[in-house]
Amino acid sequence: MLKGKNLLEPKDFTLEEYEEIFTLAKDILDNRDNYKNVAGGKILATLFFEPSTRTRLSFESAMLRLGGNVLGFSEASSSSAAKGETIEDTARVVSSYCDIMAIRHPIAGYPQRASEYSTVPIINAGDGGHEHPTQTLTDLLTIKEKFNRLDNLTIGFCGDLKYGRTVHSLVKALARYSNNKIILISPEELQLPEYVKEELERLNIAYEEVKTLEEAIGTVDILYMTRIQRERFEDKEQYERLKNVYILDGEKMLLAKEEMIVMHPLPRVNEITVEVDNDSRAYYFKQAELGVYARMALIYKLLGLG
Ligand code: NCD
Repeated sequence: MLKGKNLLEPKDFTLEEYEEIFTLAKDILDNRDNYKNVAGGKILATLFFEPSTRTRLSFESAMLRLGGNVLGFSEASSSSAAKGETIEDTARVVSSYCDIMAIRHPIAGYPQRASEYSTVPIINAGDGGHEHPTQTLTDLLTIKEKFNRLDNLTIGFCGDLKYGRTVHSLVKALARYSNNKIILISPEELQLPEYVKEELERLNIAYEEVKTLEEAIGTVDILYMTRIQRERFEDKEQYERLKNVYILDGEKMLLAKEEMIVMHPLPRVNEITVEVDNDSRAYYFKQAELGVYARMALIYKLLGLG
C-alpha cells in the first residue's frame, strides 16, 4: 500500500511497489485520457532550493496532467529560507497548503528532516550528492521499456560517481534485482562513495571499477553517462582537471553493442557529443520524457487516487 508513504530513498519501496508504479505508468502512457482528471482538487507543492529543469517541470507537468494543481518555488532566494527559516518549519507550514510535496535541497538529508514535520507525503527530488529516487523510478521505467526486464543486465556508470546522486540511487536499486552486473567507470577522485559500495557488497552484487570508457563500452547493455557535478566540488581546480575526462562520441559508439542504450539523467554539458543524439541507441531524451509518466504514477499512488 503506497498511499501516504514518503519516497526519500529507493529502498523506501519494495520491488512489488516499484512494479505497481511501472504497471501504472505504462497504463497512463497507453491511456492518458483516462487519467486527466483523477487528481482534481489536489495540490502538489514543489519546494526547490536548488536549480532544476526536468525534475521540477516534470513533477508539475505530471500533477497538471492528472488534473491537479501545483504551487511552489524554484530557488531558495525566493523562499523564506533566505530569511533563515528552517526546513522543519517550512515543511510543517507548507504541508497545510498542499496534499503532497516534492523537495530538492543542496543538503543531504533535508527531505528526510522535512518528512518528520510534514503531514503530507514527501518526495525527495534530489538532496545534495546523496539520493534522487524519482530519477531512479524514471531510469528503471526506461530500462524496462527497452529490455522488458530489470535483471540480468550489465550496466556501466560513467563519470562523476562520487557526487552523482542519480548514480547512488540507481546503483542501489539495480542491486536488488538478480544477476545484474555493474561496471563503475570513473577517475580515482570520482569513485563511488564507500557507503554505496558497502551496500552493493551487502546485496552481493557483482561490480568492477575501471578508469576508461573504452574498457567497458563493448560489454554493457546500458551505459549511464553523468555530468561532472561542478557545484559539489570544493576544489575548483580539480573540477577543471576532471571536467572533460569522459566524452562519448560517435567513434566510441562504434565499440558498443547493437542492442545497448545510452542513458543520462541530463543536463549534459559535454560528456556526450551531439552527434550521438542521432544514434538509435541514444535514449536520454526518451528517458526524460518517461520521467513525467513515472512521476504521474508515483503521485497517483501516494495520494491513493485509485
Ligand atoms: C540530475 C540531478 O539533479 O541530480 N538531474 C536530474 O534531476 N535529471 C543530474 C545532474 O544534475 O547532473
